[in-house]
Amino acid sequence: MAYNLLKGKRGIIFGALNSNSIAWKVALKAHEEGAKFVLTNTPIALRMGELDELGKACNAEVIPADATNVEDLEKLLTKSMEVLGGKVDFILHSIGMSPNVRKGLSYDNLNYNFFEKTLDISAVSFHKILQVARKLDAINEWGSVVALSYVAAQRTLYGYNDMADAKSLLESIARSFGYIYGRDKKVRVNTISQSPTITTAGSGIRGFDKIVDFAERTSPLGNADADECADFCITMFSDLTKKVTMQNLFHDGGFSSMGMSYRAMSQYNKSFDCEAADEVPTEW
Ligand SMILES: NC(=O)c1ccc[n+]([C@@H]2O[C@H](COP(=O)([O-])OP(=O)(O)OC[C@H]3O[C@@H](n4cnc5c(N)ncnc54)[C@H](O)[C@@H]3O)[C@@H](O)[C@H]2O)c1
Repeated sequence: MAYNLLKGKRGIIFGALNSNSIAWKVALKAHEEGAKFVLTNTPIALRMGELDELGKACNAEVIPADATNVEDLEKLLTKSMEVLGGKVDFILHSIGMSPNVRKGLSYDNLNYNFFEKTLDISAVSFHKILQVARKLDAINEWGSVVALSYVAAQRTLYGYNDMADAKSLLESIARSFGYIYGRDKKVRVNTISQSPTITTAGSGIRGFDKIVDFAERTSPLGNADADECADFCITMFSDLTKKVTMQNLFHDGGFSSMGMSYRAMSQYNKSFDCEAADEVPTEW
């Protein structure tokens, strides 16, 4: 059901790759809620993904940009304002990638060139988008910028690797830039810390299906799925959340406030009695 929450609003959505992507669901809901927006991703993602299909479904132009490249971002924001007929009201940063995770390198054996790429793609790109947007004065007053994060920014979840550091930086950028952009232009900047969700980026994490299952059983409300995450993003882009800024907002069914649930503890204890315990790799 649509509420016209984004009627008359313009935006830019980064990170839709395929129909599993969280950004894909956000685009469909933003369209339903009356927004006009531009879709963007890297040139290689545009070749490999299905973004044109989404563009057609949402009547949205697709503009390539590598979010780590400031020149690309300047062109993207300038072109977006032309195409949409004015400054934007919302931006979604739904971008994450770790070459160390992709190559299966563990946290105590990182390749530092890869580590820099992880940070640049998954966190510094957020700063670059905000800095370029502010210099071009591309966001209307009371606009809303959201990036997607994960609880590994605060708590150790072993398989998340150097992405945990990237998410900590991402959340810090939301606070630091949120102050400047709020003070100057009333633009709000937040991160949404989402439950583990089966997508291309998520599935790259070692033992991801087990993380999803553990979170599902531990969270009192169960995991939030990608559609529910999209609903939350839409609310954050709407005028209903005008005074929310510089926050990391957990959207995880309560997982982040849990220590140990009775169910999880019973299951954990059982694992010591059965042979399956021998199958758990020692480094976990
Ligand atoms: N899936 C999960 O479990 C989960 C949980 C919490 C947060 N998140 C976050 O949600 C966001 C979206 O991920 P997703 O799960 O939808 O996976 P996804 O793989 O569908 O999206 C990741 C996107 O990042 C894009 N990207 C990579 N490098 C880029 C670059 N240099 N410039 C521009 N775009 C680039 C990819 O092309 C892709 O579209 C990420 O920030 C991810 O960390 C995901």
